[in-house]
Formats: sequence, C-alpha cells, structure tokens
Amino acid sequence: PVRRPSGGLISIEQRSASVEILPGLRTEMMTYDGVFPGPTLETRRGQAVTVRHTNSLTLPTATHLHGGHTPAESDGWPTDLLVPPGFEAPAHHGAHHAGHGDGPGGHEAMADPKAQVRAGRRDYRYPLEQPATTLWYHDHRMDFTAPQVWRGLAGFHIVRDDEEDALSLPRGDRELPLMIADRAFDEDGALRYPARDPELLGEPGVADRYMAGVLGDVVLVNGAPWPEAEVEAAQYRLRLLNASNARRYALSLRTSDGKPVKLLQIGSDGGLLGEPVEHDRITMASGERFDVVVDFRSLAPGTTIEMRNGLGTGRTTRVMRFRITRRATDDVKIPEKLADVPEPESPHGAVVRRWHFRREGVHGRRGWGINGKPFDPAVPQAQVPLGSTEIWEFFTDAHHPVHVHLSPFQVLRRGNRGPGPMDLGWKDTVDIRPYEAVRVRVRFERYAGRFLIHCHNLEHEDMAMMAGFETV
Ligand code: C2O
Ligand code: CU
Ligand code: CU
Repeated sequence: PVRRPSGGLISIEQRSASVEILPGLRTEMMTYDGVFPGPTLETRRGQAVTVRHTNSLTLPTATHLHGGHTPAESDGWPTDLLVPPGFEAPAHHGAHHAGHGDGPGGHEAMADPKAQVRAGRRDYRYPLEQPATTLWYHDHRMDFTAPQVWRGLAGFHIVRDDEEDALSLPRGDRELPLMIADRAFDEDGALRYPARDPELLGEPGVADRYMAGVLGDVVLVNGAPWPEAEVEAAQYRLRLLNASNARRYALSLRTSDGKPVKLLQIGSDGGLLGEPVEHDRITMASGERFDVVVDFRSLAPGTTIEMRNGLGTGRTTRVMRFRITRRATDDVKIPEKLADVPEPESPHGAVVRRWHFRREGVHGRRGWGINGKPFDPAVPQAQVPLGSTEIWEFFTDAHHPVHVHLSPFQVLRRGNRGPGPMDLGWKDTVDIRPYEAVRVRVRFERYAGRFLIHCHNLEHEDMAMMAGFETV
C-alpha cells in the first residue's frame, strides 16, 4: 500500500497483526497499519509532512525516519521521546484531546508534546528539505530496536522532487521498492528471535553467540520468501534497501540459463548519483539503500531472472526472481548526467573527529561501544557547530555499518585508497571493515539538538554501540 499525505498529514497505527508470510501460516507481528512492510509513504521535497503515529501495541516505541533531514524532536530519540502503548479507544480520545488539535492538519498538536506522549501517540514532523531519495522508517527504542524491527516495524518512505521527475527514468509499475530482510521462523509460523534476557546475555558463551548480530535463515523481499515479480521486457528501477538486523548481501542478477544482468546504479542513500555507474553486484550492509536500473529488454517472454546473494549459504543465497511476461515498448534512455554531486574532496582545515567502534567491557559484561563508551543518552560525545563541514573518521576492529543521523556524507577515503565501489554519492550508512579507517565529509545544517551516530547492526546498536552528538 502507498500512502500520500492529505492536508500535510499521514496517520499510522502501530498495532499487532497476524500476517501471512510463509504460505498457509500466520505470523504474529508488530506492524505499522497491520501490514509488513509498513505502508510506503510518498512525499515531496520541501513539502513538510506530519506523520502521526498512534501506538496500539503493548510496548513503547520510537519511530525514526532513516536518512531524513529531520529536527531533533521528531528524529526518534531512543530514550525519552518514546511513545508509550495504551492509546484509548477512539470513542474516548476525542474528549481527552479536545483543544490539542485532533483534526487533520491540527498542528497545534505539536504545542504540547507531553500530552501526546501520555496518550500513546506522537506527531513526527518532517520538513523534507532534501533531494528525492529512498528513505525508510523503523523503530528506534533503546535496547529493543533489534527485536521490534525484527517483529515488523519497518517501512519505506520515498521522497520525490521536480529535478528527478524531469529525468527519463523508469516509473510507475516499472519502479519497485524492494525491502530485503532475513528472518527465522518456528514451525507454526511464529517469528523466532533469540532470547535477549540480560541475565542470559551476561553468561559467558551466550553473549558471544549473538555478538555478530541475529541472522535469519530465510530472506524476505517485501515480506515474502523467494518471491517472483512479473515484469515486462523493459527497464526497471529497483530501490534496494537492506532492512536486515545484521545480514550483509552481495546481490547479483542472472537469467535461469546463466546470463548475467548488470545493475546500473543511479542513486545511493541520499539521492541520485552524478552519473550512472554499472556494477556486476551490489554489496549492502544493514541500513544501506541502492537505487539501480536493470534492463530486461533483450530477454524473451518466459525468461526467469534470479537475484542471488553471493554472501549467503543454502537458502540465504535466494533473494527473489523476476519473470518476463511479455514484450513491451520502452523508450526510456537513462541520462548520462543525473544530478549535481560535488567531487568528494577533503575540505582544508576542517575539524577531524575520530569515532572508534569497538567491543568494550561494560559493567562487567561485554558489549559494544564508541570511543570506549557505551551509549549514554545524557552525554553527547561531540558538539558540532551548525554550518560547519567536518571530516569524520570511522575505525573498527570488526565489521560495522556506521550510520549518522541528520546529515548525509560523502566518503573521501577507504583505507589508503579513495572511496570504494559501494561508497558513491550521498551516503548516510557506510560499511566499515576491520582495521580500514573510512573518512567522510559531512556538513551539519539547519537543526540544532541531539542526534545519533551508531552501528546499524541492530543488535550492536542495542548493545549500546551508539553515541549522541549535539549540533549547536
Ligand atoms: Cu536506521 Cu538510527 O537508524
Ligand atoms: Cu537514521
Ligand atoms: Cu556493529
């Protein structure tokens, strides 16, 4: 389902629902509006939208728009901006909320955030002063992000703009957002998430088992295992999102008779690339997006094209299939120039800030931290002046996808070379390999407040591999 704002407002109910994921079985999930993935939101650059989340679940939530250039109070801070459960029946809430602007577009509801919080709802306000791109929204509650996303709290949010609309790109039915996420199930269809009892996690051996994050044994695309999409012999735009808790993919396409199909990258996390770049495969870590065009024009009806994961084993090599139904006219010519993206050059005299992602002894238990500290919501690790451009350097002794809220960045260096093939364009999540420092250039603009930098392996995030920074 696609949802567009009406009167600047989109309302979403977070509720549990039983969803069919494995054929013939019901899976109890935490959902946005009863579906998994959540409804795809479609908005336009510079047209502010309020997304009103009502929490009818039994647990608190915090919703974050990943990749959104968003003011701090709507960014889903994981500890004190939670939306508690317990929204009363609609029959009562009119009375409770009289005077708080309940009607569509009732922006006075923003005036008293505490009142909304008590009611189990929150208005997230997104100005969307940012180029067209693929964003996604997901839960961000401290200590519980990983299990709550695993249980279903994730959806697409697509931003469009006039510049992109003016380009010749596949659109309509030929544009497919694909949310790739692995899961594990019990025989009856229930989601299986390993126990995360802190006692248990403190025991030697048990913590180690999930130190790399939780992996599923089946890959879902838009909530379905090994699905088949019917396509015409035409070009398609695939908006790839890795919404997995911890799994990395190396995605490639091949016809059933073994002919490779190239992936033409046109965009990254934060919008279009300067020009298209061809890849044989796309490697993606948790949180990353790749916008690609695939060309099926030369394939005969009946042909099947498989998308496989080169980093999987057994069942997790299987991602999805496309089947050509018929020939079609397609005169889309992908432009050689897509957008104005500045060259990634180091700014002179910029502040260099180092973020060391590593394992720490935390209160006698092992966990993950940044610069020697587990996440402390009360103490930001950096103060960054608005309007400044800084160089941030990420360093690790293990594999971590690093995500920065508020501002997109450009990769300047990976190890002692320039950006890698998956580092192009505007990124908000970058995969860091052991002992390979990655330098990015990032400019902080517009919104003062507290924001986050963290590992997007969601189990690492829950194990406190997160830090606040404050823009001033
Ligand atoms: Cu997609 Cu702070 O997260
Ligand atoms: Cu984010
Ligand atoms: Cu990590």
